[in-house]
Amino acid sequence: MLSLRQMTPGDIARGIRLSAQAGWNQTEADWRRFLDLEPDGCFVGEVDGELVATTTTRVFGPIAWIGMVLVDPTMRRRGIGTAMMEHALAYLAARGVATLRLDATPLGQPIYQRLGFIAEYELARWEGVSPGAGCDGRVCAVTAAQIEGLADLDRRATGTDRQGLLRYLWEHSPQTMLALEGVTPLAGYAAFRGGARAFQIGPIVARAGDVGRALADAALARLAGQNVFVDIPRDHGSATQWAQERGLHVQRHLVRMFRGQPVQEIHHWLWASSGPENG
Ligand SMILES: CC(C)(COP(=O)(O)OP(=O)(O)OC[C@H]1O[C@@H](n2cnc3c(N)ncnc32)[C@H](O)[C@@H]1OP(=O)(O)O)[C@@H](O)C(=O)NCCC(=O)NCCS
Repeated sequence: MLSLRQMTPGDIARGIRLSAQAGWNQTEADWRRFLDLEPDGCFVGEVDGELVATTTTRVFGPIAWIGMVLVDPTMRRRGIGTAMMEHALAYLAARGVATLRLDATPLGQPIYQRLGFIAEYELARWEGVSPGAGCDGRVCAVTAAQIEGLADLDRRATGTDRQGLLRYLWEHSPQTMLALEGVTPLAGYAAFRGGARAFQIGPIVARAGDVGRALADAALARLAGQNVFVDIPRDHGSATQWAQERGLHVQRHLVRMFRGQPVQEIHHWLWASSGPENG
């Protein structure tokens, strides 16, 4: 019999095993971040006292993201994934959230569709070994003074106030968040972080094509010789062209879905998402 409860730090090791089993990229630092940023909104499912399922949420004011919908392979197709989602949806309804969003895999998409989610657009996950790249001398690590402008730019691009998430990423690893020096207001930023299988490059937000390219290249330059993933909206021509030119290839597609009020994004500013858990 399935029982659901809030996730605690003691569940992280089992969460890592579940995400690794699914071939996902999350590390202990990612799982800690989910719990640090939404301590009441991360859930586990247990059968006979054994943790077999997870789901995380992250509330950004009126918008929430759902992620880490994972069920142990031996326990699938018995309604556990749906029950986890329903539990997360009830939590988010109680928080008064108007819009729910997520990036769906082919296994997850039918469940979300039945729960009223609508497909928005596709993201391609590009993968490869970073060839390195020429680095625009103006690209520097983001400073404390730039964080507010960065969060403003991100809010305009994504229609979502992700200031808490962006500050968290910057505070934990300031060298992995990049922007163009001396340009105000900020023209763009790029971040990257370590993963179990590859460095995830993203988010990348840029107001102009040359800025996006310079920031994406700067991330590649810092990751020369490393495996990288970049999740790029499939209809983003400049970012797609950049990924092709840098020798990356498409590993798989994810479908971005929403339920409730649609979110107004400036879509062509979003070069790369932060990964499936936060858009
Ligand atoms: C996606 C995932 C979480 C689904 O978990 P799950 O527990 O199998 O989900 P459910 O059992 O609620 O639903 C899965 C299917 O089983 C069916 N099902 C549910 N209860 C059933 C039962 N008692 N008997 C037979 N079939 C059943 C559902 O109708 C659904 O069918 P469909 O996919 O053909 O529409 C799981 O496959 C998983 O962890 N996949 C890897 C990670 C992943 O892709 N996660 C989604 C991220 S967006």
